[in-house]
Amino acid sequence: MHPTLAAQQAVAARRLPEAVARYYGAGAGEGVTAAEAEPSWQGLRLRPRVLRDVSLVDTAVELLGSRLRTPVLAGPTAAHALAHPEGEAATARGVAAAGGLLVLSTRASLPLEQVPCGPWWFQAYVMRDRGRTRGLVQRAAAAGASAVVLTGDVPYLGPRPGSSRLDLLGQGEVDPGAEQDPSAGLETIEELTAASGLPVLVKGVLRGDDAAACLDAGATGVVVSNHGGRQLDRAISSAAALPEVARTVGGRGLVLVDGGIRSGLDVLCALAIGASAVLVGRPVLWGLAAAGAAGVEECLTALTSDLALVMGLAGARSLAEVAADLVRPP
Ligand code: LAC
Repeated sequence: MHPTLAAQQAVAARRLPEAVARYYGAGAGEGVTAAEAEPSWQGLRLRPRVLRDVSLVDTAVELLGSRLRTPVLAGPTAAHALAHPEGEAATARGVAAAGGLLVLSTRASLPLEQVPCGPWWFQAYVMRDRGRTRGLVQRAAAAGASAVVLTGDVPYLGPRPGSSRLDLLGQGEVDPGAEQDPSAGLETIEELTAASGLPVLVKGVLRGDDAAACLDAGATGVVVSNHGGRQLDRAISSAAALPEVARTVGGRGLVLVDGGIRSGLDVLCALAIGASAVLVGRPVLWGLAAAGAAGVEECLTALTSDLALVMGLAGARSLAEVAADLVRPP
């Protein structure tokens, strides 16, 4: 883990109420998948290039029309007011200052109109009350979101021993009654596209055939994710799933990834094996708890600077030069 993230994690551990820290940190079941996330990136090995004039290294990326200084995005996580009194408003300022993009959770502490300040996407669940889901994505579009990220891996909440939901999710936009609808199918991609007028990415995809099915159903892309190990324990790691998904998608759509990204090397490996950008969840919460907006900016800036350094060491001057041949095939 990058030392800045480790330091912020330590401060957050001292500051956060015990129950909140347990909720943010929780993994499903026996925690097998949650524990595998970080080592799965560390298991990859690089094939660096030499003498490539890396005096200028550029981490910029354009995603769905947003020009970003970093491919490290803030992933959707719930209830930021539990980490900092300003909640998602502070997160959004920190992300914008780092030149990144925020994926705002449906289960945010603040009404979405009070949050945006840089490029942002809105994360949606399909709730039992479909009208409510449609209303939320319409509001997000009106407030300037440039994409919808549809969470596909929560037909039910995963079992997380020792971490109740704390009624944490009763805050903000949705109350605990606004449960996700387990009957949701691929048709919801088209429903959300029609309701919002925005591109829809499906988050929680771990298989190539699922990624293809989502694109066939109208998705603009997928986020390879096991939900931070919080849903189905023993699900494969994102690092293990990403190559197959990227191969299947080819150039047909956008492929992003999250889960256990904690250093520039993790980002580099993820980009090399097929992602266009990565999302970080818990580290943003640690930064937010440690120092509000400045902490979020510090977290994302640390990962981005670290990425630029290891890109230079690997002989890659731009994200376009971070290709699959940079990583040794397993
Ligand atoms: C969680 C839900 C809110 O992981 O996505 O806690």
